[in-house]
Amino acid sequence: MYVHHDAPHSRSRVTYKGALNGDGARTVWVGDVLIGPRATGTDSYEQNRNLVLSEGTRADSIPNLEIETGDIVGAGHASATGRFDDEHLFYLQARGIPEDEARRLVVLGFLSEIVQRIGEPALEARLLEALVAELEGSDGGGVVSRERACSVAELEPDTAKRVVLGGVPIAVVKDSAGAIHAIGDTCTHGDISLSEGFVEDDTLECWAHGSQFSLLSGKPLSLPAYEPVPVFVVEIDGDDVYIDPDVKKDIA
Ligand code: FES
Repeated sequence: MYVHHDAPHSRSRVTYKGALNGDGARTVWVGDVLIGPRATGTDSYEQNRNLVLSEGTRADSIPNLEIETGDIVGAGHASATGRFDDEHLFYLQARGIPEDEARRLVVLGFLSEIVQRIGEPALEARLLEALVAELEGSDGGGVVSRERACSVAELEPDTAKRVVLGGVPIAVVKDSAGAIHAIGDTCTHGDISLSEGFVEDDTLECWAHGSQFSLLSGKPLSLPAYEPVPVFVVEIDGDDVYIDPDVKKDIA
């Protein structure tokens, strides 16, 4: 991945994810960022995250940063490689989901976060289909369980809609960029419906006492709430929004 900042006040965000399975599986991520002499005020950040599914795998991250001006806003990078979450797997199996399918769902949640930031529903749907097909092929069989939440057309930008799927209240949110998110609808500070609150960028604010929750991680970004709400995997199929209320995103 190569990012070249060559104009003033430009901004870049790179997120590269990998899931490694099987003895000998290996990824090498090389992230090159060049901030040229004219690119004053640049804000750049790149990250690589990997999910290790089995023994005998290896993930290497090689970030390279070259800065040719002293006047920038920020230039950072991060890398994290984590093991498969056995507790999450146990939770899914306890809900009656077979192990192979549970593993696929966890990996799908991990990878689909990237797809859902594209903001182009038709393209997101195609990519999610490809991910599901790839994961089904990798371990044999299995269908992602999901329920229709609403239509894409029902969602106005910067608004939230409350749905209840399988008894779980969920706030479905379309942000100003057009990306659709789903987080638990009940504020962790009190019994307040977050979908009655305010959407700003990729946050949803509780109207009662003002805690803002990240739509990407479910984490509160301001007090008084300090516990996160769950984040759910969203799938767009045509003009319909599907969510599996039993499957929460794996947020590191
Ligand atoms: S009830 Fe949501 S912040 Fe207090």
